[in-house]
Amino acid sequence: MTTTIALAGKGGVGKTTVAAMVIKYLAQSGRGAIFAIDADPSSNLNMVLGLDLEWTVGEIREGMLSKVKESITAGGAAMGGLPSGMSKREHLDYEIRCSLSEGIEFDLIAMGRGEGRGCYCAVNHNLREVIDAIGDQYSFVVVDNEAGMEHLSRRTTRDVQHLLIVSDPSQRGIVAAGRIAGFRNELDINIENAYLIVNRLPDGEIPPALQEAIDAIDVPLLGVIPETRDVTEFEFSGRPLVEMKDDSPVYQAVNALHASPQELRGCIEEPLTHADSRRHYRRVRRTPHLQRSAARSGRVDDRTVAGSDPVSDRDRLPR
Ligand SMILES: Nc1ncnc2c1ncn2[C@@H]1O[C@H](COP(=O)(O)OP(=O)(O)O)[C@@H](O)[C@H]1O
Ligand SMILES: [Mg+2]
Repeated sequence: MTTTIALAGKGGVGKTTVAAMVIKYLAQSGRGAIFAIDADPSSNLNMVLGLDLEWTVGEIREGMLSKVKESITAGGAAMGGLPSGMSKREHLDYEIRCSLSEGIEFDLIAMGRGEGRGCYCAVNHNLREVIDAIGDQYSFVVVDNEAGMEHLSRRTTRDVQHLLIVSDPSQRGIVAAGRIAGFRNELDINIENAYLIVNRLPDGEIPPALQEAIDAIDVPLLGVIPETRDVTEFEFSGRPLVEMKDDSPVYQAVNALHASPQELRGCIEEPLTHADSRRHYRRVRRTPHLQRSAARSGRVDDRTVAGSDPVSDRDRLPR
């Protein structure tokens, strides 16, 4: 079973910072492979994870739609712009797998910018299926969202086990966190648990007035993270936050969050290793750049595409 952890909160409260620390924690605890999803176009989660990013899902989606459009404008069929023999779904599956940014302990995909004008329902439906199928290969999926969660259900159909709502230590921040928690009932995905995290507390202690505001919203407080100079120094130099020392107060605080609710540890009997997670698309990725240009020029090898089928390959994974 995959445990999905999503980060939410208004802009600038520390979602991406906390996401990086959660991923560092999960990686160090060695409890299975991690798939990070950057669902905030302005977030640059790749930078805090120290990964290069070549393509975003948004770019792939626009690329495919413009191929289809060009083909129709030229009097051809809608599928005429895609490499021969490939359905739209197969094409997206192939391109998305090629766009995964691979780390030693975690992989990343970035959603990129949102949709432009036009109807994206069908392509978004395919994308959701492809990304969900990739996520199923991992023990943990960590989604760094943009402010609010309005796009979360457009990106995934998977259940979210833990929604971590991050707030700054202000009355306004806590009220906004309460409002965000309320949205969860309006989404068409199931969120099992929602918790509040108060980040950037100057001395790590919650003042009584702030505690009152926290008590007034219906979101259990998971923990607090102090304001720390370590984070600022990493930001100055652009070093990936996952390289932060284990004794950094911010990492220690996130580490302590995992110790509190039993469920946050993830209930995985046989965690998938990073190697297991990758096995299903290894053939496709053997030479990703060549494969991608082959796909673009229509020279794609059918056997390669067949090998990327997420369902059949997943069935072959040792469980
Ligand atoms: N605990 C912290 N101590 C010091 N600076 C922090 C802390 N958490 C976040 N920051 C800083 O706050 C800014 C916004 O954080 P970020 O994680 O990008 O927020 P969000 O993803 O919610 O927009 C960044 O410059 C980050 O370095
Ligand atoms: Mg962010």
